[in-house]
Amino acid sequence: MLQKTPIWFMRQAGRYLPEYKEIRKKEKNFLDLCFSPELAAKISLQPIVRFNFDFIILFCDILVIPHALNQKVQFKPNHGPLLNPISSIHDLDYRNIRANLQKLSPVFETVSILRQQKKEKKLIGFCGGPFTVMNYMIEGGSSKEHKKIKAFIKREAKEAINLIRIITEMSIEYLKLQIDYGVDYVKIFESWAGLLEAKEYYKFIIEPNKEISESIRKYSRKTKIIHFPRGSKSEYMNFIQDVYCDVIAIDNDFPEKLIDVAKEKKITIQGNLNPIDLVRGGQNLENKTKEILKKFKENNHIFNLSHGVLPETPIDNVHKVKTIIDKNEIT
Ligand code: CP3
Repeated sequence: MLQKTPIWFMRQAGRYLPEYKEIRKKEKNFLDLCFSPELAAKISLQPIVRFNFDFIILFCDILVIPHALNQKVQFKPNHGPLLNPISSIHDLDYRNIRANLQKLSPVFETVSILRQQKKEKKLIGFCGGPFTVMNYMIEGGSSKEHKKIKAFIKREAKEAINLIRIITEMSIEYLKLQIDYGVDYVKIFESWAGLLEAKEYYKFIIEPNKEISESIRKYSRKTKIIHFPRGSKSEYMNFIQDVYCDVIAIDNDFPEKLIDVAKEKKITIQGNLNPIDLVRGGQNLENKTKEILKKFKENNHIFNLSHGVLPETPIDNVHKVKTIIDKNEIT
């Protein structure tokens, strides 16, 4: 049987697409866009209409969880997210998770619209990894050095555990609702996993992600789980050992033995073209794409990037990769 490697790109809906920018410029507030079901569904489908990718990812953001916990979240143009930093769970409104999740009901409406329109495509819902969400909540936005979060988990370990528990519980309930409304996959974006190692990695990355996986598996066996503990380096091995994954998404720095272990454990590998190669294009892009197909040819593999599509990405380069993938039929 001929089989093509499935493909989609992290951040496949976004600012490299003129049709996204057209909608975006009419809406001042990014979160309002996430909470407009018709528009959010339309944006989620834009990369499918243009490139015919195999997966649709819900258009939303990981920072809707702090928003639902009553932390102020804004997105400033050319600056990224801006949150009123918190220092304790008492700065949040966390005692009634149901009421918190009610604030996210437009997101479930978006899932519902997409479920009706997805045809043969798979629909991915998502949330942030608990540590990554906590990082933005404590730092108050994007950060280079992550000083506040590092100090917080060291000096106020108990408080950090309390906070990550709340985020984990919210994330589980949030994903369950996305499943109820029709997603086929859930992805947990632990984008800042690479900040930690050893004991801290275990406590703040493995444990919360494991709790999410176990709860989702109990809730729905047919939902597939994608984990993305970005930057984990050698910890990727501990991660797949301890956390149930149907799919492990990887960046560019991972241990080679992961390829064999994933095969043994029947874990699909997702990745891992560097988004910069996608921006640059040319012969290098073709070579890199083919190298990746070769590297994972013995694995179950979903072609993707090692991080999100960059806004300056030329659209022709995305078409080019899609064409190479389509021509590469594995028997
Ligand atoms: O992948 C998709 O197409 C689906 C939508 C999606 C967005 N954010 C839309 C978005 C997804 C899956 C995310 C996840 C997300 N958000 C992550 C995890 C993945 C990663 O990139 O590490 C993180 C860390 C965030 C937090 C976030 N949201 C940041 C740091 C920023 C600003 C920087 C940036 O990349 O733009 C955002 C804003 C954001 N989220 C935009 C989009 C399309 C751009 C906002 C705009 O249009 O002005």
